Amino acid sequence: MKTEKWDASKQSLIKAAQLLNKQEVVAFPTETVYGLGADATSEVAVSKIFKAKGRPSDNPLIVHVHDQSQIQHYVTEISTMAQQLIEHFMPGPFTIILQSNGTVADTVTAGLDTVGIRIPDHPIGRALIQEANLPLAAPSANLSGKPSPTTAEHVYQDLYGRIAGIIDGGATGVGLESTVVDATGDIPVILRPGGVTKQQIEQVAGKVELTSSLKENQPKSPGMKYTHYEPDAPLVLIDGDQSFFQNYIHSYQQEGKKVGIIASKPLVNQLQADISYNCGSRDDLSQVAANLYYGLRYFNDTDVDIILAETYPQEGIGDAIMNRLTKAATHRYTQNKNI
Ligand code: TXA
Ligand code: MG
Repeated sequence: MKTEKWDASKQSLIKAAQLLNKQEVVAFPTETVYGLGADATSEVAVSKIFKAKGRPSDNPLIVHVHDQSQIQHYVTEISTMAQQLIEHFMPGPFTIILQSNGTVADTVTAGLDTVGIRIPDHPIGRALIQEANLPLAAPSANLSGKPSPTTAEHVYQDLYGRIAGIIDGGATGVGLESTVVDATGDIPVILRPGGVTKQQIEQVAGKVELTSSLKENQPKSPGMKYTHYEPDAPLVLIDGDQSFFQNYIHSYQQEGKKVGIIASKPLVNQLQADISYNCGSRDDLSQVAANLYYGLRYFNDTDVDIILAETYPQEGIGDAIMNRLTKAATHRYTQNKNI
């Protein structure tokens, strides 16, 4: 299949919207990461998303709509708590899980009786949804297991020849995916930390819970079901001070390995590795979030054998950063613990 690459003009949006109405899949920018969209009401269209990404069919997709009034068409009811979350966080990096009324294709919800809905806070993404006049099922537009794409170029690298087209809207802003919140019960439950923080949700809903798997936040074991966000070289988290980090760089180098590091300022400037990626200031974790996936992919164009990454406090957006780093990593070394 020839993959078209479009700018963000009105003509491009019309072209992309026509293809979506012909059950094709199209990548588009959102404020979090690029999405891979298809008509959420069409089994045929949605199955093309799973095929293009190589995504396991038991992982449900988020349905993207262009404004709040659309949500009611896909759900059985919206509680007062859910309505408050919708009003505060949508549009934005926030996905609400509600009881599905069965309108979207079964493959979207992977057979669950709930559906995830999001309104992207991005002019191009929303204009496309409106132009297509469809709810768009859209996972991140990467090959399954790889870091999510924050530029059109990343989408191109992963999905060229597998999808109908890509709308290039420049680099995304937030850089990590939406916060996924189950709002089907009395208390909202965070299923995936993301661009909207736990503290922000607490301010609106009072109480918020974390789903049990989030409480552990341990690097995956080799047997774990699916890989996530993985760069080509193995990623190891280094949770300690500068000399602790530098010792790991040296010991991998002594094994003959070429070492890449992902760290923020000031640490990144203090460490000596073979290749360094500076993901911004540690005083502003939104910079780290915006650059993280870019950094993981950056090393795919190098010949490093291993990537060592700094860890961050699990506060605010740091929660989402650590969630993604932990899933991408094979090991974590913590000062005074693992030696
Ligand atoms: O920021 C984002 O959310 C991006 C952009 C493109 O919107 N999309 C995204 O989609 O990250 P994806 O498919 O990579 O991740 C969707 C997440 C998965 O963790 C999935 O398990 C969860 O949302 N999810 C979707 N529907 C669900 C449901 N009904 N119940 C529980 N989890 C659900
Ligand atoms: Mg994804």
